[in-house]
Amino acid sequence: MISIAIDGPSGAGKSSLAKALAKDLGYVYVDTGAMYRSIGLYAVRAGVDPHDADAVAALLPQVKLGIRLIDGAQHIYLNGEDVSTAIRAEEIGMAASAVAAHPAVRSFLLDTQRGLAESQNILMDGRDIGTVVLPNATVKIFLTASAEARAQRRAKELAEKGQPADFATVLADIRQRDYQDSHRAVAPLKQADDAILVDTSSIGLQESFDLLKRTILAHI
Ligand code: C5P
Repeated sequence: MISIAIDGPSGAGKSSLAKALAKDLGYVYVDTGAMYRSIGLYAVRAGVDPHDADAVAALLPQVKLGIRLIDGAQHIYLNGEDVSTAIRAEEIGMAASAVAAHPAVRSFLLDTQRGLAESQNILMDGRDIGTVVLPNATVKIFLTASAEARAQRRAKELAEKGQPADFATVLADIRQRDYQDSHRAVAPLKQADDAILVDTSSIGLQESFDLLKRTILAHI
């Protein structure tokens, strides 16, 4: 089976690119961030502080996640409810980043993530796919961009959605999430030694897509 691991910070274009590449290559796309987001959503709804490791761990036995592909798009189900849209809220991204720091949450998701790569060709994106989840992935990519470039894209996306946000606030959020993701004790965000670095700061989506596709095809 072929597995492509794409890791990198929030807003580098990972999920749009991973989704498009998986479709183009005929692989199954697995968005691991959506799994952490679903647990973050569950904690917020339960009134539990996502930073409280014990309280979040106590919720895990009540969480059942399901993943289904509908027209090639990954839908994620939290105890039977399709939460694919609800997990995209800014607040839930922060909660996801907080719950992702707890070892109990990471081990809860690890088997599911590895299991998905066993029987099919996949393209999986996240923060620790190349370092922890699939250390033997066929190709590992570390996709990044400067915090400013990522904040600019995020601010534009929010404006297009009719939720204009102050650039300085978006940039501060991105920096906070980067810090949280790269300084945690378990599975911190970092480039695997054998990952190929791709920086999209100064290239657009199409150019990034072409570059990634060429890079992947050269290695499989
Ligand atoms: O990629 P996305 O922004 O959806 O991920 C939400 C949060 O989940 C990230 O900020 C990160 O803290 C966490 N995450 C993780 N490991 C992964 C995927 C996501 O820690 N493999």
